[in-house]
Amino acid sequence: MRAFLKNPGSVTEFSADLLIVPIFADKKLSKASRDTDRALKKQISRLLDAGDFNGKKGETLLLPGVQNLGTKHVMLWGCGDKGSLQRQHWVNACHQLSRALSATKAKHIAIAADFKTPKTVPNSWALQQISTQLTRGNYRYTTTKKSAAKGLCPIEKISFLGASDTANSKHAIAQGIAIGDGINIARDLGDLPGNICTPKYLSSEARKLGRKFERISTQVLGEKQMGELGMGSLLSVGHGSKEESQFIIMQYKGGKKSAQPHVLVGKGITFDTGGISLKPGAKMDEMKFDMCGAASVLGTMHALATMNLPVNVIGVIAAAENMPAGNATKPGDVVTSMAGKTIEVLNTDAEGRLVLCDALHYVKRFKPASVVDMATLTGACIVALGHHASGLLSNDDSLADELLAAGIASGDRAWRLPIWDEYQEQIKTPYADLANIGAGGAGTITAACFLSQFAEDYRWAHLDIAGTAWNQPGPKGASGRPVALLCQYLQTIGS
Ligand code: BES
Ligand code: MN
Ligand code: ZN
Repeated sequence: MRAFLKNPGSVTEFSADLLIVPIFADKKLSKASRDTDRALKKQISRLLDAGDFNGKKGETLLLPGVQNLGTKHVMLWGCGDKGSLQRQHWVNACHQLSRALSATKAKHIAIAADFKTPKTVPNSWALQQISTQLTRGNYRYTTTKKSAAKGLCPIEKISFLGASDTANSKHAIAQGIAIGDGINIARDLGDLPGNICTPKYLSSEARKLGRKFERISTQVLGEKQMGELGMGSLLSVGHGSKEESQFIIMQYKGGKKSAQPHVLVGKGITFDTGGISLKPGAKMDEMKFDMCGAASVLGTMHALATMNLPVNVIGVIAAAENMPAGNATKPGDVVTSMAGKTIEVLNTDAEGRLVLCDALHYVKRFKPASVVDMATLTGACIVALGHHASGLLSNDDSLADELLAAGIASGDRAWRLPIWDEYQEQIKTPYADLANIGAGGAGTITAACFLSQFAEDYRWAHLDIAGTAWNQPGPKGASGRPVALLCQYLQTIGS
């Protein structure tokens, strides 16, 4: 999707397939919207006066076959009550706009963008969010559904008419599209089936990023090199699989040479059968999404390189397939992590923490300013938070606050859970330094307790995206979360 800022003499003469007219609940029209209304012989005013359209957030109304305008269709778009408008409302409204647009055939969209948002939702951010959501709405999964490729009508072009503060707006719109593209990269990787999106597939995508962007360099370790490093915990997960596990490191250098890097670590289980602790059959197909943490790293790296953010970021992916087999890890087996700690694998289905702990130890070498890991780690997180918020657990209050704020600012929210010492008791075992599952409830917290023991030397946070990485319930599909949160976080650090 390409975007343009336009200041046409008259909105009514601007030609596009469809014109969006944003309307707040106060029903006051911007200049461009008033001009449109006049050209439509007051059709919009009549609808508003009659209460047929009230500017409720996300409400849309398509006026088909309009005359006297450069566009044949006009869509009224409700933006909600200005007085109480929050960023999350705006995100939802943009999302609904994008869904309404996907039901039309419009390829070139214009939007009357001379509206004023309240302080709580800064204007340039509002434009950024429109761009992100419309880009996001352009995503269609096609790789293994060739028939779907026909008849798709994504938006090719969007013109923002009369937006103020041109330089700022331009920047915001470009960033919005870059974030949307990053989200879609994560969605597509998530949606791909496990027989295509293997650990090697993830590493080849990471190498592609390295070729595409001068500022990204990619390195991939195979099982032999991981063995030499002593990553016995990570390797134990892929033991039963025919697919070779991969450890992926992508370095993005956008900041000062001396600036400490921020590290993103993604869980990349390309399929999670549970291993010998086999999962039940129902919905097991959804465990192809168990690499969505890794996908969010790739999507975020793509976005930040496109945006040229002035930060140093290292993206790390621990990729493996969790399968049962004659040589698979068994419950009760003890493995040795790269940190030297021994781990009793009481349940082979708690494999995410086993790959992440070696990654968390590995990244110590970068002397990171912060480390954030993303993982579809625990079903318990869905019990605790459902599908609206990702779980956030951290050993550093300031980092946790930054991420929570980034979640609110981007409409990709997280909610913090504690990792108090008392919970650490639950992962003790007589047979090893720690066990990979905790008895006594709070599964999301005990999983994070486990990780925290490998992340003691730096500011660290963990995002449990089990409930947010794909749409549940509803039409199946990866959501691209938490790419928006991560981009917002890195944008804030870079500004
Ligand atoms: N990938 C799953 C977690 C998951 C389950 C994410 C359902 C999204 C939906 C993870 O590897 C897992 O199996 N976790 C176990 C841990 C348990 C054995 C302690 C779980 O949550 O049941
Ligand atoms: Mn599992
Ligand atoms: Zn898993």
